Amino acid sequence: MIQLGVNIDHIATIRQARKTFEPDPVTAASLAVLGGADIITVHLREDQRHIQDRDVRLLRETIFTKLNLEMSTAPEIVDIALKTKPEQVTLVPEKRQEITTEGGLDVVSQKKTIMDAVKRFKDAGILVSLFIDPEENQIAASKDAGAQFVELHTGNYATAKDTTTRDKMIEKLQTGAKAAQKLGLQVNAGHGLTYQNVGLLVESLDVGELHIGHSIVSRAVFVGIQQAVSEMKELIFKHNLQKHIQG
Ligand code: PXP
Repeated sequence: MIQLGVNIDHIATIRQARKTFEPDPVTAASLAVLGGADIITVHLREDQRHIQDRDVRLLRETIFTKLNLEMSTAPEIVDIALKTKPEQVTLVPEKRQEITTEGGLDVVSQKKTIMDAVKRFKDAGILVSLFIDPEENQIAASKDAGAQFVELHTGNYATAKDTTTRDKMIEKLQTGAKAAQKLGLQVNAGHGLTYQNVGLLVESLDVGELHIGHSIVSRAVFVGIQQAVSEMKELIFKHNLQKHIQG
């Protein structure tokens, strides 16, 4: 079974547009779990542009599925994470001006910093995933840094403008996934996935977790978050079954 991680950052983005109390991502998280979310993900950015300290604290108290905290290695965020004790952290690169996470983490050039952070989390019993592009050197460096998971960046697959590019991106992800699995890393994937493009990815790639945010929250505006999550779960289930039937 592929686990679905639902990123609820953009519920908080709407709230922060007015700096008010609604909609509350904590309520959204409970409804997402009712809809079948296996994991709730939030990205506590240094600028707290959407998710706030308060959200992370309350989610930890109210969510009993896996809580996955996306974060940079900034010391104050690492301290919050160690205090909150989510089941998992996903380390991502973070730039102030970006609209969303733009590329994978450069584990190769920041190995020491990442390795130190990974060690602190592992010592605290927290699983560590590194969000990387499907490049062999980044995969090998992730293993060296001590992470248990890699989340392969699916953005280039999601934004491919034609089928040739899309198929090339799928091949790249497949090669990356195999290399990571060979090293004993669990492979997750995410970024830019939608109701339209998730099926082909599920049929092409063996992954443990899929992490999806924007598309689910967008659909939730019209159908509610519980239903939006449940529709995504069903799609993933259907395409995963299809893959196993086709062998
Ligand atoms: N995975 C990671 C590491 C991310 O940074 C994000 C965006 O916050 C996602 C998955 C979800 O991406 P999207 O919102 O495009 O589904």
